[in-house]
Amino acid sequence: MYKKIDLSMEFLGIRLENPFILSAAPPTDEFDIAYNGLKAGWGGIILKTTSVEGNSVPLKYPMMSSFGSMSRKVIGLGNIDLISGYQIDEIEKRVKTLKEVFPEKMIGASIMGTKKEDWQTLVWRLKKAGVDLIECSFSCPQGSMGEEAGRMLAQSIEATEKVARWVKEAAEDIPVLIKITPQVTDIVEVAKAVKRGGADGITASNTIPSLLGIDINTFEPYPSLFGKGAYSGLSGPAIKPITLRTIAEIAKNVDITISGNGGAFNWRDAVEFMAVGASNVQFCTLPMHYGFRTIEDLKRGFAHYLSDMGFNSPLDIVGKALPNIKSQDELPSPKTLAELVEEKCVGCGLCYSACFDGGHMAIDWDSEKRVPHFDEEKCVGCAMCMQICPVDAIKMKEKIEGSNSVYYFVEKR
Ligand SMILES: Cc1cc2nc3c(=O)[nH]c(=O)nc-3n(C[C@H](O)[C@H](O)[C@H](O)COP(=O)(O)O)c2cc1C
Repeated sequence: MYKKIDLSMEFLGIRLENPFILSAAPPTDEFDIAYNGLKAGWGGIILKTTSVEGNSVPLKYPMMSSFGSMSRKVIGLGNIDLISGYQIDEIEKRVKTLKEVFPEKMIGASIMGTKKEDWQTLVWRLKKAGVDLIECSFSCPQGSMGEEAGRMLAQSIEATEKVARWVKEAAEDIPVLIKITPQVTDIVEVAKAVKRGGADGITASNTIPSLLGIDINTFEPYPSLFGKGAYSGLSGPAIKPITLRTIAEIAKNVDITISGNGGAFNWRDAVEFMAVGASNVQFCTLPMHYGFRTIEDLKRGFAHYLSDMGFNSPLDIVGKALPNIKSQDELPSPKTLAELVEEKCVGCGLCYSACFDGGHMAIDWDSEKRVPHFDEEKCVGCAMCMQICPVDAIKMKEKIEGSNSVYYFVEKR
């Protein structure tokens, strides 16, 4: 039976009515849009990254392109957006107003600067305006406000620690999140630098630097601005696996609060982000694509999941999957085999060609009956056939020598 679950939780000392936050991006850039997001029921927002007056950002349009697949038009969004065109004089007014209208919501703001004075001025002014949390963008893929032009700040361990310390020194009791990039050699070292710098948490992570595509007739990159293009930041479902790994690596190695961000598109993704160590989840591409009402699906699905699983609060699932994430050499090594679920097979033959050209030639094809036969001697149990079967007609099993007992692995993911 469904037990009503209270989705409210504490995050760095701030009460959130639910763990779903609008990240620093277009849905939090215009005042009216941010207002509508909070009204729709999101737990909090982080206003799009701002800067000190005079640090103008040259925005270029069109700034969006998409990465698709055959079955879904958009599985990733690419943007060449930069930080907000609104600077701190405007953002401090918005923080004040939003806090007055929505006192129970988390109003965060994202900042980016160059000099110590800029970072600290941004913090002092936001603090005075009543902000609940400050997020620092150390990872804008298009930005050049880092230590070196064109390099993201979070790609330097020294700069990460130094700037985190400047910000926290000014923020004092206001929680500070550092938004990092997975585009580094060792994410754990970056997370340790954030902690040494005294910041309260990490947003893991941001868009991923990418090149969305090339028009093969004109050789123009996407998005094309009169024939020329720049590298984009990739967001949305396409980057979820990278984000999951980033969160898990940090959570396993550094004792620091994590806000998960990058590729979450539904409540299941949110559960996964939290299961690998995030305390809440930020969203951008989902509301940009399908609107703010998606919060209703997130809240409902998440609450039902917690109830079905016997949990009482969102925080009960944080880190639940971490003990199961091992290094390759720590994994068990059973003898696995593929097995056909005959009643599901539609005779397409995809498993046969995948195994013949990309596996171990362990499938014989009965062309008359159009069914595959698995050769248990040749099958190494790689699971490629299970991954490509369009109707889930292949399962992987563990066969224990000299016994009839069979263990079926979790089905295709
Ligand atoms: C058009 C666009 C503009 C963005 N601008 C910012 C920004 O100003 N500051 C920032 O920290 N992140 C910015 N982001 C990144 C998002 O906040 C978020 O980290 C990223 O999109 C990954 O989350 P998602 O997969 O849920 O979209 C932007 C993303 C998009 C798509």
